[in-house]
Amino acid sequence: MNLKQLAGIEAAKFVKDGMIVGLGTGSTAYYMVEEIGRRMREEGLKITGVTTSNATKEQAETLGIPLKSIDEVTEVDLTIDGADEISQDFQGIKGGGAALLFEKIVATYSKQTIWIVDESKLVAKLGKFPLPVEVIPYGSQQLMRIFTKKGYNPVLRSTETGETLVTDGGHYIIDLHLDVIEDPESLATYLDQLVGVVEHGLFLSMVTKVIVGADGGVTVTDTPFQK
Ligand code: 5RP
Repeated sequence: MNLKQLAGIEAAKFVKDGMIVGLGTGSTAYYMVEEIGRRMREEGLKITGVTTSNATKEQAETLGIPLKSIDEVTEVDLTIDGADEISQDFQGIKGGGAALLFEKIVATYSKQTIWIVDESKLVAKLGKFPLPVEVIPYGSQQLMRIFTKKGYNPVLRSTETGETLVTDGGHYIIDLHLDVIEDPESLATYLDQLVGVVEHGLFLSMVTKVIVGADGGVTVTDTPFQK
């Protein structure tokens, strides 16, 4: 079993009967969704899923997981999602899979949020992983100029075939190559107030539990951000 699978399967153990579960996006979340599907089939587990991307929606539908949209529920009991980087103080970068906007919305309305990662995602400080910023296409080149002037080394994200990537929400993604983010709070505040920025991949003080798949086994850690 690979490390992502280990973390995904461990996280699925926290899913209980009757829960509304936020289903994350990415290669680690994939294993968690598969495991929930297996538990439903083999153990009779009953849940309702709220998906964070079209890709996860398709996977959940294939597995027969009943789904509701985020607007059809008052809140989500537990969201389980991957992450691109987690710092020692449990702050995160997400959006490598281009689903950060829906992921942040679902996490915001969740009572508990678990991140599942392999140990390569654990870092001392955030920033080696390019920070995704989701932007409105109209005026996106203006934001590129602003970020270039700031020294943020922005790159407009493309698909494998070279076209500009369009997110599930119909937006573009600008990846900021920052190397290190000394003050994630102030960067988040700056990005939040830029016209045309829809959301960014800094997920600060949002995660309640981190599950790490490592060569030595799986670790489960409660963060200080309990709700
Ligand atoms: C998608 C995400 C993913 O959770 C993140 O990119 C981690 O992905 P993976 O588990 O494939 O490494 O934020 O927007």
